[in-house]
Amino acid sequence: MKICAIGAGYVGGPTMAKIAEKCPDIEVVVVDINEKRIAEWNTDHLPVFEPGLLEVVKAARGRNLHFSTEIESNLVDADIVFICVNTPTKTYGEGAGKAANVTYVENCSRLIARCAKDGAIIVEKSTVPVRTAETVKKILHHRAASRRFEVLSNPEFLAEGTAMSDLEHPNRVLIGGDTTPAGQAAIQAVVDVYARWIPRQNILTSNVWSSELSKLTANAFLAQRVSSINAISALCEKTGADVSEVSRAIGADERIGSRFLNASVGFGGSCFQKDILNLVYLCEAAGLPEVAEYWHQVVIMNDYQKRRFATHVVRTMFNTVAGKRLAIFGFAFKKDTNDTRESAAIYVCRDLLIERAHLVICDPQVEPETALQDLRACGAFDSGVDESNVTFNPDPYEATSGADAILVLTEWDVFRDLDYERIREQMRLPAFVFDGRNLLSGEQLTQLGYQYSSIGKNGAAAVDSSHAKED
Ligand SMILES: NC(=O)c1ccc[n+]([C@@H]2O[C@H](COP(=O)([O-])OP(=O)(O)OC[C@H]3O[C@@H](n4cnc5c(N)ncnc54)[C@H](O)[C@@H]3O)[C@@H](O)[C@H]2O)c1
Repeated sequence: MKICAIGAGYVGGPTMAKIAEKCPDIEVVVVDINEKRIAEWNTDHLPVFEPGLLEVVKAARGRNLHFSTEIESNLVDADIVFICVNTPTKTYGEGAGKAANVTYVENCSRLIARCAKDGAIIVEKSTVPVRTAETVKKILHHRAASRRFEVLSNPEFLAEGTAMSDLEHPNRVLIGGDTTPAGQAAIQAVVDVYARWIPRQNILTSNVWSSELSKLTANAFLAQRVSSINAISALCEKTGADVSEVSRAIGADERIGSRFLNASVGFGGSCFQKDILNLVYLCEAAGLPEVAEYWHQVVIMNDYQKRRFATHVVRTMFNTVAGKRLAIFGFAFKKDTNDTRESAAIYVCRDLLIERAHLVICDPQVEPETALQDLRACGAFDSGVDESNVTFNPDPYEATSGADAILVLTEWDVFRDLDYERIREQMRLPAFVFDGRNLLSGEQLTQLGYQYSSIGKNGAAAVDSSHAKED
């Protein structure tokens, strides 16, 4: 059997590496138009950083795992084709800013129609709007009428940073297909691949539309939890409640559950915002404005949280950060990834650059050029701010030398275990820490003389002291 995956990104690379590892008898080829990316997949400096990924790639690469820019020749004899291309938010025309741009999926469909063999199974792994499979089918039908293809939906639920363990032990794999005998046979063929290492009861099957919609819904629910606890964090700061204590108390209820209840500077990543906006657009297009508005609020709350954090930094630092040196701890959207797409750090940094701060960005995995591109793209330098106001230093001790403040924007473990006494000695006083991930011990840092603030906890002292005055 041969599998060909189109798109060697954060999904295509790791998922296919895992399949190749588990199924040594299946030839797996990952193709991409991006020559640089493919070249990197063929070195030990992979374009995607994921704990454990390099080991899996090295074990299978050259054996039954290949990365190639030869797209057409690899599609010709593939039995299963996974579409793993990007589906970003549309930036132009109808639906701009909300709808998913499915151009790359359409391009793949045309490529497949041109090259793939009769009977090939086409699998959407990209996250797509509901009923995209219909578009894929139409293109295949019109452009390759003499060949038969089954189109399945098999959305990917991995989380960056834990992708390899998610792929090894997924909560579930979902495969949607037609209820026809041919559709069911195609589902079974893909089930058989995953069943090599995933318990059969964790492989769910459904119709195509349910599968497509489940992925959007899963991301909407996850993001909603983050926005819900972040909304409560703002109220905590006004009332003296502590958001960690609230999270623990509500998370103990089995109906709510304890995961994904950490207040933070906001969610990021290439998926949550894009997929919710896509859901919002689909609801609007379906004539369901109330449903659309309900989900849109999750994104609005996330934007509010990022803005609120930057405003808090400026206000706390005596209403100005102009010319002040701020050490930015973390630029990736979460720990253990080099992915910065939609990272909260981008927007916080932009707002502080506009306030004329000098930023020293310290991230163990993010390339300086990637961060600069993100900042350019979000308009950080549009108001005459010079790019020289941003520098990079991967060493946290050097990054904080002469700094006025530290902003923790990604929860990398390395930031937790630093010698903060040594760091404070080399900072300008008063030394501020703004912990956007509630990663550090506020008690310890306060004892060391820092002006420490975190998310959803800072109101307690203010409320206690106002009560003391009333007494
Ligand atoms: N990143 C995640 O954590 C994650 C998780 C689950 C699902 N998804 C979904 O998976 C899809 C892919 O996401 P990603 O993060 O891997 O994207 P990505 O941008 O990292 O990778 C996509 C790749 O597809 C390639 N590509 C685009 N058009 C092509 C074509 N016609 N031929 C060959 N290659 C082409 C691009 O060059 C790029 O390398 C998206 O729909 C995303 O929503 C992502």
